[in-house]
Amino acid sequence: MKKIFLFLLATMLLTSCGGNGAAVKPADDPARAANFNKTYPIVDSLLKVMTLEEKIGQLVLYTSDWDVTGPSIREGYIEDIRSGKCGNIFNAYTAAYTRKLQEIAVNETRLGIPLLFGYDVIHGFRTIFPINLGISSSWDPGLIEESACVAAREAAAAGLHWTYSPMCDICVEPRWGRISEGAGEDAFLGSAVSRAMVYGYQGADLEDPFTIAACVKHFAAYGAPHAGRDYNTVDMSERWLREFYLPPYKAAVEAGAQTVMASFNEYDGTPATANAHLLTEILRDEWGFDGFVVSDYTGVMEMINHGTSADLADASVKALNAGNDMDMQSGGYSEFLKKAVEEGKVSRKILDEAVRRVLTVKARLGLFSDPFKYCSEEREEAETKTEENLHTALVLAQESCVLLKNHNNILPLSKNSPVAVIGPLANSADDLLGTWRGAGQVEGVKSILDGIKEMAGSVVYTPGCDVEKESQALFSHAEYAARSAGTVIMVLGEPCDWTGEAASRTSIRLPEVQTELLKEIAGTGVPVVLVLLNGRPLDISEESELADAVLEAWYPGTMGGEAVARLLFGEASPSGRLSVTFPRNIGQIPIYYWAKNTGRPYVDIGAKYESRYLDCPNEPLYPFGYGLTYTTFSYGKPVLSSDSFGPGGSITAKATVTNTGSREGCEVIQLYLRDMLGSVTRPVKMLRGFQRVLLAPGESTEVEFTITQEELSFWRKDMTYGPEAGEFRLFIGGDSSCEDYVTFTYND
Ligand code: NOJ
Repeated sequence: MKKIFLFLLATMLLTSCGGNGAAVKPADDPARAANFNKTYPIVDSLLKVMTLEEKIGQLVLYTSDWDVTGPSIREGYIEDIRSGKCGNIFNAYTAAYTRKLQEIAVNETRLGIPLLFGYDVIHGFRTIFPINLGISSSWDPGLIEESACVAAREAAAAGLHWTYSPMCDICVEPRWGRISEGAGEDAFLGSAVSRAMVYGYQGADLEDPFTIAACVKHFAAYGAPHAGRDYNTVDMSERWLREFYLPPYKAAVEAGAQTVMASFNEYDGTPATANAHLLTEILRDEWGFDGFVVSDYTGVMEMINHGTSADLADASVKALNAGNDMDMQSGGYSEFLKKAVEEGKVSRKILDEAVRRVLTVKARLGLFSDPFKYCSEEREEAETKTEENLHTALVLAQESCVLLKNHNNILPLSKNSPVAVIGPLANSADDLLGTWRGAGQVEGVKSILDGIKEMAGSVVYTPGCDVEKESQALFSHAEYAARSAGTVIMVLGEPCDWTGEAASRTSIRLPEVQTELLKEIAGTGVPVVLVLLNGRPLDISEESELADAVLEAWYPGTMGGEAVARLLFGEASPSGRLSVTFPRNIGQIPIYYWAKNTGRPYVDIGAKYESRYLDCPNEPLYPFGYGLTYTTFSYGKPVLSSDSFGPGGSITAKATVTNTGSREGCEVIQLYLRDMLGSVTRPVKMLRGFQRVLLAPGESTEVEFTITQEELSFWRKDMTYGPEAGEFRLFIGGDSSCEDYVTFTYND
């Protein structure tokens, strides 16, 4: 009976009613937006016949018993599916297993509403791309979109409908382990990355079975925990939040992301999970988001620990009323919402709206027309780790690595030269995959040592030391290897589980034994190329003095071993640029390029009463946007189409960039603005454009950027958003420390 009901409805009513016109508005692609605004009559029909329990079941998300990241409080999730108490499952995948669970939902529950399957597909599913901090260092939104598209194809083929990505948390706090999961410190670059990822996951239409729904997380400001300790308190002004933290979430929502995850942290004294200002006023009322909000793992229950709810019943009521539609893993909605609705603590309207949002996303994914469309084992086999997927991973891994130093152009190495490979991470394939590697497996992954062996003339290898144990027993062996080879590649860093969730550190230095090993090897006088594997900006002041070359490789993914070797031996050229500032030491934290000028900027070198340190320069070790390649570039002075414009107008800025070296190379040309006078203080620089260009030796290109009032806009004194009249400086250069500028005026 129920199947007849559902499938009749599906056939008769599935036709989209078209966009409601109000929700998603990506300025650059309205056609795509329309697909994500569709409403479905089947949702209304279901809402009319669903019982209170069935409705609540659609708001419940439980983990399967695979891959949990917190307490696994429901052993009987299969029984919950069968009884209609749980409409959504995460951490269950493979076509076969999701089919098995889906069959229970579709065939054994009264209405046969399909399950939604979610998973943390963060930087790839089976083919693993570099960690997100690495991905953002490519400054290549097109390739980032492609990587998310590959991840979606693989995940969708394994039965998944929904990824908990993109992670849009801006972060200036390297102690926080989850800095590795985001796009770095800058709202403009972060927006470009999050938009690209949503486009990649969701494609042009979610009904396409090769796409999955995105989830914008962690809303909001999870990347700013006090002292860098995961899950810790967040506090910042509304102005700071809106200008520097919210834009990447907003960009992802505008790109059509179907879901948003509330963060663990509090904002302005209220946990985000029950923060109506964030979840309803900003997200829905201001941004027009019409998908659903899910809590983070046991986020609803954690309101008891936060001290804003006495018990889970109260937390559940507060969360749903504030706009948190789905409860991940707390069990509170399941247990307490029925009574709360009956007692009027949650209105039927609020409940129905939440259910409507969840069902609408299921409909947009096409699950009512075919609940098993993601469950094909043949497709799973065919889509997984294909040659094309691995190629995308290789290119993105190459683009993600950032060359920080190249003294005497020691890199690239000649392909036939003998090398000694030293370091505790050189022969690790596992660490290359980084944190949140989804269902990525280490089998078949080449370590950096393996990659080098395919390129170098001859290779001697010794780990030299353990990752962190203090023994120097292997030092002399390493020294001998270095002397006999004549060139050394050292692979040092953090093991991959030192970043990610619940992996904060108070030190951002390499483990001492690794630095000691580097000192020992550098002391031989043999040239040293240092390759770093890590998931946060590290204090490598000492190491970058000791090494002749430094390549920041992050955790570069499935193809990372090959990618790093190709870069070292000149088969490819580095083109990554830092998406986050590297401090000189931990005392400079938080350090970020978009700082304010202050009332006492440090301009008068040596002056006492200016904003500076006694024991360290203000400047970072490596600034945001920085990165070298195997050639050099020169910049002509920017030329403006006009020296002023006004509302509705624009100007263009052009600059000539020339490859002044003898090799082909890729430059990431960056445009920064400074607003010289505002009703509130303004950053000394704001990234407002970038372009990757590939130039042959001697080749010049003229790049052009357009500046409209949007690029000048900010949250003004009265908390309205827009530009203010006055003078602006415009910089075009290769990183955020560029100094040459031209000026223009914006007139009201
Ligand atoms: C907790 C993490 O904060 C979040 O990022 C992740 O998506 C969920 N667990 C689900 O695994």
